Amino acid sequence: MNKKKNIVITGATGGVGSMMAKGLSKDFHSICLGRNKEKLEALVKDIQTEGGTASYETADMSKAEEVAEAGDRIVSSVGAIHAWINNVGVNNHNAIGPTWELEPENWWTEVALNLNTAFIGTRTAINVMKQQSKGYIINLGGGGVQDPKPYGSAYGAAKSGVVKFSETVNIELEKEGLAIKVFAFNPGFIRNERTEVLVESKVGRKYMPYLEETMKHGAMSKIEDTNNLIKTLISGKADALAGKYFQADDKNIEEAIENSDVFISERRNVLRVRNIETRKRL
Ligand SMILES: NC(=O)c1ccc[n+]([C@@H]2O[C@H](COP(=O)([O-])OP(=O)(O)OC[C@H]3O[C@@H](n4cnc5c(N)ncnc54)[C@H](OP(=O)(O)O)[C@@H]3O)[C@@H](O)[C@H]2O)c1
Repeated sequence: MNKKKNIVITGATGGVGSMMAKGLSKDFHSICLGRNKEKLEALVKDIQTEGGTASYETADMSKAEEVAEAGDRIVSSVGAIHAWINNVGVNNHNAIGPTWELEPENWWTEVALNLNTAFIGTRTAINVMKQQSKGYIINLGGGGVQDPKPYGSAYGAAKSGVVKFSETVNIELEKEGLAIKVFAFNPGFIRNERTEVLVESKVGRKYMPYLEETMKHGAMSKIEDTNNLIKTLISGKADALAGKYFQADDKNIEEAIENSDVFISERRNVLRVRNIETRKRL
């Protein structure tokens, strides 16, 4: 058994997931969860060559039983899971465009792959972490949460769902007296194979031209900001802010921790309709 704390990263076979697995692997043991064994083996080898520690498990994140079994295997091999990051998310080209022109099946597949995978991962993580003294679950949000994402209604609806889901589960855990904290965050716009293909695609250029503009001339987000945010969220310093949503490249987590009273009383970093009063239930 290694002495580092263990972090599970879902969808680690590419993009942001593999970047997080690499970036966190010096301070933590990265457990790369994915459905492609060859890619996972190559990633773990890369991490080890660069001086980090990592291992992998396979599961399709849309299949609850497979994920629960992977959770059990992880616990048997490494002992405990300190943090679980639900990174799986997709932005399929067939779910981009005017909502009324999209095929219902494509729209729903997009929602499920972004929202249901976060539920399935969270469910397994909680069932594992209940046996431990503490744990952290972090869900990936994205565009369409802070502001609407026109022509990406499935992705935006799913990511907004992920954020509300995270806040809700965090309250349930508090009510049950379980020392598991749930956060959500947006990594920002990060260059990888998927985002490069999207900006140059027909639908990307037609419906989200600002993405190409940003990739060519704007400021892209950095994976270091994501990894620094994750490290702070799972350090225990931000526990009072659990349930909230952060934007990695805002780099305001330390400020939020210092002013957590204000963040909580003003209900900052949560999804709310602010001009409708919430009815208190007895
Ligand atoms: N990149 C950005 O700019 C950006 C911005 C905001 C939010 N995000 C969020 O960050 C996360 C990662 O995005 P990304 O850009 O890195 O996407 P990506 O490059 O497409 O990577 C997605 C990963 O999810 C995996 N995956 C998809 N369905 C899966 C399933 N059913 N079971 C297991 N693994 C599955 C893919 O694995 P395979 O190799 O098996 O296909 C891949 O490793 C997503 O939640 C995304 O919404 C990204």
